[in-house]
Amino acid sequence: MAGLTLVYDLVLYISISTVIFFIIKRSRSRRLRLPPGSLGLPFLGETLQLIAAYKTENPEPFIDVRVKRFGSIFTTHIFGEPTVFSADPETNRFILQNEGKLFECSYPGSISNLLGKHSLLLMKGSLHKRMHSLTMSFANSSIIRDHLLVDIDRLVRLHMDSWTDRVLLMEEAKKITFELTVKQLMSFDPNEWTESLRKEYVLVIEGFFTVPLPIFSTTYRRAIQARTKVAEALSLVVRQRRKESESGERKNDMLEALLAGDDGFSDEEIVDFLVALLVAGYETTSTIMTLAVKFLTETPLALAQLKEEHDEIRAKKSKQEPLEWNDYKSMPFTQCVVNETLRVANIISGVFRRAMTDINIKGKKIYASDIGSINFQQKISYIFS
Ligand code: HEM
Repeated sequence: MAGLTLVYDLVLYISISTVIFFIIKRSRSRRLRLPPGSLGLPFLGETLQLIAAYKTENPEPFIDVRVKRFGSIFTTHIFGEPTVFSADPETNRFILQNEGKLFECSYPGSISNLLGKHSLLLMKGSLHKRMHSLTMSFANSSIIRDHLLVDIDRLVRLHMDSWTDRVLLMEEAKKITFELTVKQLMSFDPNEWTESLRKEYVLVIEGFFTVPLPIFSTTYRRAIQARTKVAEALSLVVRQRRKESESGERKNDMLEALLAGDDGFSDEEIVDFLVALLVAGYETTSTIMTLAVKFLTETPLALAQLKEEHDEIRAKKSKQEPLEWNDYKSMPFTQCVVNETLRVANIISGVFRRAMTDINIKGKKIYASDIGSINFQQKISYIFS
């Protein structure tokens, strides 16, 4: 019996050693073939350095240091995957121009776990096409035109009425954005349920920017748990609304468009879609709104011109009359302020793409099977210099 155990241990030892040997050999040969750079620590890679940089006022050093050392296309290891990072405008243009041919949208496992595999950002092929066109036609529909401005007007007034002398603008912008999105998606007005959903969302979003290993990171563990809670809450809503829709009760929102279309989306697909849309609109829009106020405060002339445009429209309305789509369309200067804020703020620092095939970029080979994802960062100084 003891002899048998010894043989068993020996076989196990040899098998484990062989696996480790091949993993090390494979990762060394991968490393040799990748663009220059560093893969950092085992498992963690260079994620901690990236996060630390983004928590400062200037995240650029993470990129600058590596561009200086390795060139504008370098290898790193972030969010659990080896990643080729491009800070080279020409390469970035090439990547985007070859979307679907040489590169496809692909996000690290940590991010896709939180978004859900049926989110618009991660879907591919015909399902992506159908969901994308449904979203676009809803965004351009009369439903949005008739209600969006009225909803915005009402929510902004509601929040402004509750303001005291000290206002945390970004926090308020986040609440307004979340409540507005929930209203457009599911027709809920702000209440305790929407606020507790928002609190869970905050935890999910915190998880996007952390070490994606539940063993190492409480934030990531909490984010996964919050994602489960959000999905459960939304599943209940979808099930209830499916029943109502089948019995002929209809609402004017995105969920109705998903339930009533000919596409036959499953509950899971709809929930992932809603989770991701709430994520996509939450942090982005509220950050941009806050920055618009900051930029306007720093540019009094523009603020005065904006105010003049708004006062002219307000003067034609009674005090409680809400803004409408036509009012929004007759604000050319406001539109310029929005566009300029989007251009200058540049809040999306990069996107992820995966090479679909082996590709040579500027003399560096990028292997489809080897690369986790391609992240490209187009710094504002590159765009305008
Ligand atoms: C200023 C605000 C926003 C910015 C800067 C922004 C930026 C972006 C960027 C850069 C992408 C492309 C990601 C990629 O290709 O990997 C994207 C995709 C997307 N965004 Fe936004 N976004 C904003 C607001 C919103 C809002 C309000 C929503 C909806 C509520 C939204 C929904 C989406 C969706 C669904 C996609 C995926 C589209 C598809 O693949 O079909 N975004 N956004």
